[in-house]
Amino acid sequence: MRILVTGGAGFIGSNFIHFILKNVDGVEVVNFDKLTYAGNLENLAEIEKNPRYHFVKGDITSKENVESAITRFNVEGIINFAAESHVDRSILGPLVFSETNIIGTQVLLEAARKFSIKRYLQISTDEVYGSLGATGLFHETTPLAPNSPYSASKASADMLVRAYVHTFDLPAVLTRCSNNYGPYQFPEKLIPLMIINALSGKQLPVYGDGLNVRDWIHVEDHNRGVWDVFVKGRQGEHYNLGGMAEKTNIEIVKFILNHLGKDESQIKYVKDRPGHDRRYAMDVSFIGHELGWKPQIKFEEGLSSTIDWYLSHQSWWERILSGDYQSYFSENYKDRV
Ligand code: NAD
Ligand code: DAU
Repeated sequence: MRILVTGGAGFIGSNFIHFILKNVDGVEVVNFDKLTYAGNLENLAEIEKNPRYHFVKGDITSKENVESAITRFNVEGIINFAAESHVDRSILGPLVFSETNIIGTQVLLEAARKFSIKRYLQISTDEVYGSLGATGLFHETTPLAPNSPYSASKASADMLVRAYVHTFDLPAVLTRCSNNYGPYQFPEKLIPLMIINALSGKQLPVYGDGLNVRDWIHVEDHNRGVWDVFVKGRQGEHYNLGGMAEKTNIEIVKFILNHLGKDESQIKYVKDRPGHDRRYAMDVSFIGHELGWKPQIKFEEGLSSTIDWYLSHQSWWERILSGDYQSYFSENYKDRV
């Protein structure tokens, strides 16, 4: 089976491609990615010559780009990781979030319909449920209440997936996951930003009081769940995934500093994010009962090994900070696609 993995040059998508090539026989992956600032083909340098891996530079908002990739590779399944994914950027410039996350999803759904794709999986997020108070969990039945332009665009895409299942009997499934961490995460997100700033002797900007809570999951646990849902999930169903590891932001920052043997003088409390959601936490019992999935990587071990990964991959993140990573495609792929 050949699957189109959109956004495969990003953080979760590139980890997913590594996961499939390592763990699943008989599946070929077509990585379809626009290579925005968040797309980094260096994440896949180790496997780029694998005959089960193909790359297409393309935009999910382009019907022509999407249809040409599907027909060229005879694609049978689609997993849509492609998105504008950073909440802070969605506050600074919301429009591209609607274009990519809503229109892009609809272009993919139309193509899935036209080419009778056997399975479509939409990667969504816990943020579509809004914000929790001090107690309680997000369940699959929790009403959608997105609070940022990012989460509103993701929730809109979820509604389109639902409508295409209901109206056109599209064989689609959907996952909603909590905050991921792990290798290859773009250093605009909390964990890689704090690790790299700590290593570089810079300030660690903690928003507000630092007591906002996220439910952290290792990207490998998430991707194992994505594959389980893609293979075994029920058409039209949506599945919550999470790490069952709730932490305040300040706990995370202190853990990183402690692991690196640094004191807390680099921490700087800064102005809060507008509309900052206070707490996310997932109930993952449904996917547990239905598909037998649960997170396996203990947070403290996963975060320690992630910090060590950034320590041993300094040139990976230095090339991002310098912008050099953006020339990888023109230097290495121009004769191949
Ligand atoms: P990311 O920003 O690291 O990667 C996004 C990728 O999509 C990049 O490679 C980018 O080039 C590509 N892309 C963007 N616009 C595109 C377009 N128009 N056409 C084709 N490709 C395009 O994101 P991520 O953190 O890996 O997130 C992947 C998915 O998972 C997103 O849908 C996100 O909403 C969702 N998600 C993320 C998290 C998290 O903690 N990071 C948690 C839950 C869900
Ligand atoms: O919950 C899933 C979501 O997690 C995904 O859907 C998003 O794509 C992903 O970006 C992430 O969103 P968050 O806003 O939770 O992640 P971020 O890493 O931007 O921020 C995590 C927390 O840390 C949040 O409470 C804001 C805070 N923060 C973040 C940054 C970048 C800081 O205090 N300082 C910072 O510099």
